[in-house]
Amino acid sequence: MDADNGFVSDFREAAPYINYLRGKTLVVGVSGSLLEGAALNNLAADLNLLASLGVRIVLVHGSRSKINALAEAAGAECRYHNGRRITDETALNFVKQAAGMVRCDIEAALCSSIPAAAPRSKPLSTAAGNFVSARPLGIIDGIDMGYTGVVRKIDAEAVLNRLDSGALVIISPVGHSLSGKTFNLRMGDIAEAAAVALKAEKLVYLIGQKGIIDAEGRLKSTLSAAEAREMLDSGNAHPEQRRLLQYAVNAVEKGVERTHILNGLADGSLIRELFTRKGAGTSLARDPFVSIREARSRDIPAIMALVRPLEEQGILRSRSRDYLENHIHSFSVLEHDRNIYGCAALKTFADPEAAEIASLAVSPQSRDGGYGEMLLEHLLQKARNIGIKTLFALSTHTGDWFAERGFQTASPDDLPEERRREYHENGRNSLVFVYRL
Ligand code: COA
Ligand code: ARG
Repeated sequence: MDADNGFVSDFREAAPYINYLRGKTLVVGVSGSLLEGAALNNLAADLNLLASLGVRIVLVHGSRSKINALAEAAGAECRYHNGRRITDETALNFVKQAAGMVRCDIEAALCSSIPAAAPRSKPLSTAAGNFVSARPLGIIDGIDMGYTGVVRKIDAEAVLNRLDSGALVIISPVGHSLSGKTFNLRMGDIAEAAAVALKAEKLVYLIGQKGIIDAEGRLKSTLSAAEAREMLDSGNAHPEQRRLLQYAVNAVEKGVERTHILNGLADGSLIRELFTRKGAGTSLARDPFVSIREARSRDIPAIMALVRPLEEQGILRSRSRDYLENHIHSFSVLEHDRNIYGCAALKTFADPEAAEIASLAVSPQSRDGGYGEMLLEHLLQKARNIGIKTLFALSTHTGDWFAERGFQTASPDDLPEERRREYHENGRNSLVFVYRL
């Protein structure tokens, strides 16, 4: 590692995300259990940092644990149906108190966590208000849910006005009806509805787990809406995770670019999720994260970054920038979450039925995840589409990889004539493989 401990490369990695998020709206839904002690102070510091980078923040907080604590202190019983609190008059009082207390704690933490050297001497201003209208959940399975409610509408215009004035908007998990009643709402519902109504760039849920966990207990780093639906349909997910998945899918299908679900207890997880490529939790988008597409001229720097080190090691044949400019149409690139991690080219010859796989490369940190195979499949399909019958691959180091994928060894004499000449001139002495389509 360099003397700077990776700072320069980390900063370079973060810069595009910093630029991208400036002026964008981020709705952050935070589970109530994370809103005390060190977790709250760390979150407040990160929110101050994000605001200083020009991110427009709407914070929706939960308050379940505070309501429970208030009820317990008063010796009152908490009643639930289907995981939702049954909110009678007494419970509603705790709901109102808890909302005020948690909001107050958040405001205080935001004031105390301004970095000492920040150019802004004044605390970030916050705005709260009657942004959420609600209606009763009603009677479920014969049980009157009382003042438990659902979101009816978010007053997006009012929230946007506060954001425009530079405030961080705090939304508590209560809403009011047109008849003047207050309802106990879910943080998750409000955050989803607010992200959609505000056309937010991102919706983030900070929870007490790493993110969305699969049946084997592994964190899902990325999920498309279709994959999330499969998880929902499989019925394996824990109810809390199901709810989060549902909010996340709803939001991306209604126009929010990304929903992120991450551990609010891990210090800095929000910053890592937003400003690194790998993130820290689960990132969910409407479309698949991995795709292969035709390369464009603006991909040339990324292609060069992939192939240059391999050219220097003699693994790939050297291609000049001019060559890449002139042959960019023959290249395909593999993107994951808008970053390029692999490339490959289909080189054609005078013989319309022959082609060669060239410049196949996957970035070292992303190997062994099937990207090479995906690129190969893509080129095979591309070759079939244009009527290629014989596909060559020439390799100095990767012969086995091709052999294991159905390529047969061949002789340089089998190559199309112009390629054969070049083969003998360049002296790389590569092994020749062929795949008959
Ligand atoms: N020879 C034999 N097998 C190899 C190999 C090699 N040189 N390089 C990787 N593999 C194996 C891995 O061990 C792994 O095996 P496993 O599935 O049993 O664990 C498998 O191939 C990985 O396949 P996949 O994930 O589909 O490929 P990838 O995304 O790692 O990419 C390459 C494969 C070859 C594109 C990548 O290793 C690379 O960029 N290599 C350097 C450039 C190169 O050699 N290009 C081909 C020039 S013609
Ligand atoms: N920082 C990027 C973003 O905000 C990528 C995050 C990737 N996260 C993940 N869990 N894979 O979109």
